[in-house]
Amino acid sequence: MKLFAHRGVSKHYPENTLASFRAAVKLPIEGVELDVHMTSDGEVVVIHDEKINRTSNGKGFVKDKTLAELRTYDFGSWFHKKFRGEKIPTLREVLEIFKHTNHLINIELKSDVFVYAGLEEAVLREVTAMGMQPRIIISSFDHAAIVRMKKLAPIACAVLFSNIILQPNEYRKALGIEALHVSKYVAKRKPIREAIEQGAVVRAYTVNNKEEAQQLANVGVEAIFTDDPELFL
Ligand code: G3P
Ligand code: MG
Repeated sequence: MKLFAHRGVSKHYPENTLASFRAAVKLPIEGVELDVHMTSDGEVVVIHDEKINRTSNGKGFVKDKTLAELRTYDFGSWFHKKFRGEKIPTLREVLEIFKHTNHLINIELKSDVFVYAGLEEAVLREVTAMGMQPRIIISSFDHAAIVRMKKLAPIACAVLFSNIILQPNEYRKALGIEALHVSKYVAKRKPIREAIEQGAVVRAYTVNNKEEAQQLANVGVEAIFTDDPELFL
């Protein structure tokens, strides 16, 4: 079973920070997953929520703040005081950590709540500038963003599902997308099992125990997103 460190090694480090990605880079795993939003001045930053409230000492929406303003907040202390001073990373900074490794990098576009005009182009610019396209997988619950990304560049993409749909493999193929990223609950249901039998690449989130991982492996899930990759190594 292939492993992706979900938001970095987020069990032991504050999620989506350079600390969590530096921990992932040392591990012999398939790759890493991270989430991106856009600042008011058009920078691509790595954070899960639309707001900074849960994972920093600040408040408010990422979309309403400049990168400079976001950089004034502490994104480590909420997790543990030893991570005080962790800043919100830009996508570029995270890509730099993985520049000379073989890890795949799954960039999840978090444009399913707010529209971030130009997010796909901005992500593609960063990835291209680093020459890392062959190791990138773009995913999103915002399937329109994935379709736009596919029109922009020949880059591997995945559509994300938290709920079951019928004929997911037909849907994937109709959009010209490489993979299905689904919740661990959806992964075990019949439509996804059939999609796997038809040859679809399916990866499942978020799996933090061995029994669940084994069940997913049994149905042919290719990879799991986990907060704790070392549990499976
Ligand atoms: O990309 C897989 C997974 O991260 C999707 O859910 O909420 O953890 O971003 P979430
Ligand atoms: Mg995610």
